[in-house]
Amino acid sequence: MMNLERQTTRRLHEEHMAALELIGRFEQALVANREAPAPGDAEWRAVVRATTAGIAGEIDRHFDFEEQSLFPRLEANGDGQIARLLTDEHVVIRQVVSDVMDLLHASLAERLPATEWQTLKMLGLEYVERMKSHVQKEEMALLPALEDALGEDEDEALILEYASG
Ligand SMILES: [Fe+2]
Ligand SMILES: [Fe+2]
Repeated sequence: MMNLERQTTRRLHEEHMAALELIGRFEQALVANREAPAPGDAEWRAVVRATTAGIAGEIDRHFDFEEQSLFPRLEANGDGQIARLLTDEHVVIRQVVSDVMDLLHASLAERLPATEWQTLKMLGLEYVERMKSHVQKEEMALLPALEDALGEDEDEALILEYASG
């Protein structure tokens, strides 16, 4: 990992690592259960809670921050192509996520029928794969581009904005 000089990039990096950990846990739970877990299954409930909370943080907050406050700065710095690629990935991930969220909530209300569990597994694993590859791309391309684009004052303002947003 490169040395990150900016608070904004360090923060993104920390959140990416936390997201990967949660995603890994979710993936394991999906793979480990051949049938839908019972709604009362404590382990499953914990995974669902962590996953939905993680999605709220990673998708709603983190994606929005990247799109609204960071990608425009990349555009301005000549890295518009990266910004557009990452934005497209956000769109696709948001779509998968909304279906996954619905099924996760349903799985806590009743034991899912076999076909729905298979659907949740399939979409859940798609979410996992897409997020892993997205995070990897951002670690390799977004963070260095931001390090290059952000001045110290701008960095300071951004991290304050993110903390209060
Ligand atoms: Fe992103
Ligand atoms: Fe990100």
